[in-house]
Amino acid sequence: MEIESRLLPCGLHIIGKRPTAEEAIATLVSISNLDREEEGIVSFPRIIANSIGRDIDEIYANNDRGVLEDVQLFQDITQATRAAVGSLVRAQIDAEGRVSMVSKLNFFNIGKKAPWMEALNELGYGNVDADAFKPLVEYLELCLEQECADNELGGLLQALEGEYVLPGPGGDPIRNPNVLPTGKNIHALDPQSIPTLAAVQSAKIVVDRLVERQKLDNGGNYPESIACVLWGTDNIKTYGESLAQIMWMVGVRPVPDALGRVNKLELIPLEELGRPRIDVVVNCSGVFRDLFINQMNLLDRGVKMAAEADEPLEMNFVRKHALEQAEEMGINVRQAATRIYSNASGSYSSNINLAVENSSWEEEKELQDMYLNRKSFSFNSDNPGVMDENRGLFESSLKKADVTFQNLDSSEISLTDVSHYFDSDPTKIVSSLRDDGRKPTAYIADTTTANAQVRTLSETVRLDARTKMLNPKWYEGMLSNGYEGVRELSKRLVNTMGWSATADAVDNWVYEDVNTTFIDDPEMCKRLMDMNPNSFRKIVGTLLEVNGRGYWETSEENLDRLRELYQEVEDRIEGID
Ligand code: BEZ
Ligand code: MG
Repeated sequence: MEIESRLLPCGLHIIGKRPTAEEAIATLVSISNLDREEEGIVSFPRIIANSIGRDIDEIYANNDRGVLEDVQLFQDITQATRAAVGSLVRAQIDAEGRVSMVSKLNFFNIGKKAPWMEALNELGYGNVDADAFKPLVEYLELCLEQECADNELGGLLQALEGEYVLPGPGGDPIRNPNVLPTGKNIHALDPQSIPTLAAVQSAKIVVDRLVERQKLDNGGNYPESIACVLWGTDNIKTYGESLAQIMWMVGVRPVPDALGRVNKLELIPLEELGRPRIDVVVNCSGVFRDLFINQMNLLDRGVKMAAEADEPLEMNFVRKHALEQAEEMGINVRQAATRIYSNASGSYSSNINLAVENSSWEEEKELQDMYLNRKSFSFNSDNPGVMDENRGLFESSLKKADVTFQNLDSSEISLTDVSHYFDSDPTKIVSSLRDDGRKPTAYIADTTTANAQVRTLSETVRLDARTKMLNPKWYEGMLSNGYEGVRELSKRLVNTMGWSATADAVDNWVYEDVNTTFIDDPEMCKRLMDMNPNSFRKIVGTLLEVNGRGYWETSEENLDRLRELYQEVEDRIEGID
């Protein structure tokens, strides 16, 4: 069900092309799945659940627990949502099958039976509260209008003419439909405004889930330290959710001033926290450092506050570790409680992505050293304004991590869409540093849907492979774009290999199925070779490389064919018959 309901891009976006009805429905269904408290909007699934005397949060919880009756019920509710939203959109289709907002939809046209109501009736959910529905449907109507607004070419031309382009927030259209219509001059937010209270709420849910999951898989023990990644764009799109997650792990609370600016933290008492303070090692991207230096300052102060709190060590892992480090390294506790790291000023990324993309590495250790060299600059609130090279303390903190953790915040970009996720991932670095050599459990939070999930990294890579690279909907969509589509496929395969290199997070079957789908099938093989021989060579070369590096075991027969194909495509590129 998770795979089936995942949003994915069907081909590349073409500027100025409005979505098809089916695409508009998929986006609108996702928009309608979220409650929007500030706007007084209740989600479609919640309204339907209420109409049969159920609470959607309970249904979600039961789904996570595998209570089959509620799994079925949620499936039915999802179908009803799709049917109702579909009926709204289908009323607006033009001859090309694209949505054109020719008439106001007038969903509440009294006297006439509204199409969404008929759809719900048909599925046995006719008892919904029309008063709750009105604001939602009006909102969806507005979203649909914005989704289909023909603003992209106009906006682009205005920008190229150096004219004024209407500004608006950027980000994920499902989380924040105000980013629509596309074709605006997009901007971020006031860096001092995050995390918002809503972000703090969502952050707690995710961290609590992560901690519960880790305890379940780890003999009931709390994680003592979590290595986290903070990105700038994520925090813009979520108004600081991942920032707030770290505050909740450590057990500090942001205290906004009268204008909503967050420059102060307070320690949450242990009784209120209800668990030990969890230590962190925070890896900020260069973009985060550039945008949110005040928030790095805030986090550093929060960690130091926790380390200096006079509390029992079994309830305060920040203090426990900082005391150990102070002793080992001959520094004071405040200095030892340094957990906020990034690149040196002006530098970005660990460059593991470049090394993997160019195959310019021999041993995994080279990748790990690049990361440690480039990302070991600490922020110090006692001496702000410089990023200090601090590799000793960075390593000594990383080696205590039992968990690594990153966030997915938007359905637009996932683990294998870009090379930056594996570039940020410290999973194997932590195992190489730990005294026991144990691999930390790697988790990925997925906050792109109403029922946020915390999955292991391998689960998430699997889900990504199934929904994209190995999904005919995805690859046929991409291949319909021709040359560039094949390049998308080859990039995704390289990004997948990145997860083998940094975390051993890719199952053998993923590569095996890639080989079966794109190499074994002679027709597919020929299509790829004809459309884009250079990217096809990269695909073949990457499969040979993942085998050579020991990430994929397969038959000699498969390898022989790959070698032959490599030769063939080389000759083709060089014009040898
Ligand atoms: C960031 O938003 O922090 C980010 C953007 C691109 C690559 C890596 C990180
Ligand atoms: Mg701009």
